[in-house]
This record gives sequence, C-alpha cells and structure tokens, in this order.
Amino acid sequence: MIFSRRGDKALSLRLHTLATYYNNTSVIYDIGCDHGLLGLSFASRDEVREIYLVDPSPLVIRSLRQNIKTSHIPRGNLSININQEEGQNLQLSPSPKCIFIAGMGGKEIGEILLSLQSQLLDHDRVVISPHRNILELRKTLSTTELGLVSESVLEEDGHFYLILVLEKRDNLPNVTPFGTYLWQTAVGKAYLNKELRHFGLHQDALSRAYVEYLLSLLAACND
Ligand SMILES: C[S@@+](CC[C@H](N)C(=O)[O-])C[C@H]1O[C@@H](n2cnc3c(N)ncnc32)[C@H](O)[C@@H]1O
Repeated sequence: MIFSRRGDKALSLRLHTLATYYNNTSVIYDIGCDHGLLGLSFASRDEVREIYLVDPSPLVIRSLRQNIKTSHIPRGNLSININQEEGQNLQLSPSPKCIFIAGMGGKEIGEILLSLQSQLLDHDRVVISPHRNILELRKTLSTTELGLVSESVLEEDGHFYLILVLEKRDNLPNVTPFGTYLWQTAVGKAYLNKELRHFGLHQDALSRAYVEYLLSLLAACND
C-alpha cells in the first residue's frame, strides 16, 4: 500500500461511500481496518483530532505501522492511534465519535457492537458494511439501543455491499429483520434478485421467511 504525500489514497467506491456517512465528529474509529485506508482518509480533515485504526492481526498492524512511517500523512493536531486488538475489547474515547466497521462478517460485527454499545454516547454514529451473515446481524441489531439512520446498497465490480448507518438516539426506527429502505433503487432491485437466488437455496426458517418477504416486494412492484 502506498499513500500519497497528503497521506491519502484513492478510495474504492465502497470505501468512499462509507466515508460520506461521517458525522463531523473529532474522533474516528476504523475497526477491522486492515489497510487503514478508510480511517486514514480522514487525516486531512481539520475537524478530525483522533483516528483509531484497530485490527487484531499482527501482520496487518506491522504493515500499517511501516506504511504510516514512510508516508507523509498531515499530522498537525491529529493523533493516529494503531491498536492491535479485537473490536470487542476496545475502550472507546469519551468524545463524540464516528465508528466504521466494514468488510467483516455480520456475526463479528454484531459481537463488537453488543460489547461496545454501553460505551456509546447519544448521537455517536456507527457505520457498518457486513459481508455475510446479514440476517443474523439484523436480528442482533434489533435487540440493541442502536436505531437506524439509513440503509443502502451499492454495487462495485459485480459485488453488492450493504451499508447501515446507526446511532444511539431517541426516535429512530429499529433495524428491521429484512431491510426496509433498500429495495427501491435500480441497485436495490438487482440486489433483491441476487438475494432471492442465494437464499432460495436455503431451507432454514429465517431464509425462507426472507425469500417470502422478497417475493412479496417483487409482486408489489409488478402490480
Ligand atoms: C476484509 S478486512 C476489511 C478491511 C477494511 N475494513 C475494508 O472494508 O476494506 C477484515 C479485517 O478485519 C479484521 N478483524 C477480524 N476480526 C476482527 C475483530 N474481532 N475486531 C477487529 N478486527 C477484526 C481482520 O484482521 C481483517 O484485517
């Protein structure tokens, strides 16, 4: 990985879209950061004071430290913290923050959020993009204090990526079992068909209920 002199690197559509959900707080967490590109993309923003790059993999952390040392990331008042640990074990900053968790399974993301939710302040934002086990994650999220700010799906290089934006805040709707606001766009419709093909092969009760829900959306579209 090579950073430019400004410390940034062109983000993929997926990472760029995730970054657009930043809520102008001074503290950023990139949990499961791997290359660190998402977290470090905030380094040139004046309002950002602390970036935490978190990953349990020693290899990831070694390579990240090396890359940051040899790149020219603007520092000023910015502190970049590299934490080799699991997201579940984090001690979060007491300041308002925006937490990104992308590219991990829904089970791990659910475990991380369950374990961190008591440390979240009102209006702290969590932006997640799970790669699998999405139905299980939705179930877990419906039991938390996190409400849904928005949900969307994007397509890049033939893959669909779900993005859920969550906050601990009164008057937000709960995350629903199968998704509410995803399906209206052209990408949403293509995602619906892909989900039908995939979950149509599963026989468990949750998958079957999901397929039935998707079919009802399709039928409503065709009416
Ligand atoms: C596929 S990478 C995703 C990188 C980046 N977030 C993205 O979306 O491009 C997943 C990363 O999550 C890390 N990871 C796995 N379990 C984790 C956990 N419990 N807490 C934090 N990070 C974890 C892995 O070491 C790996 O670097």
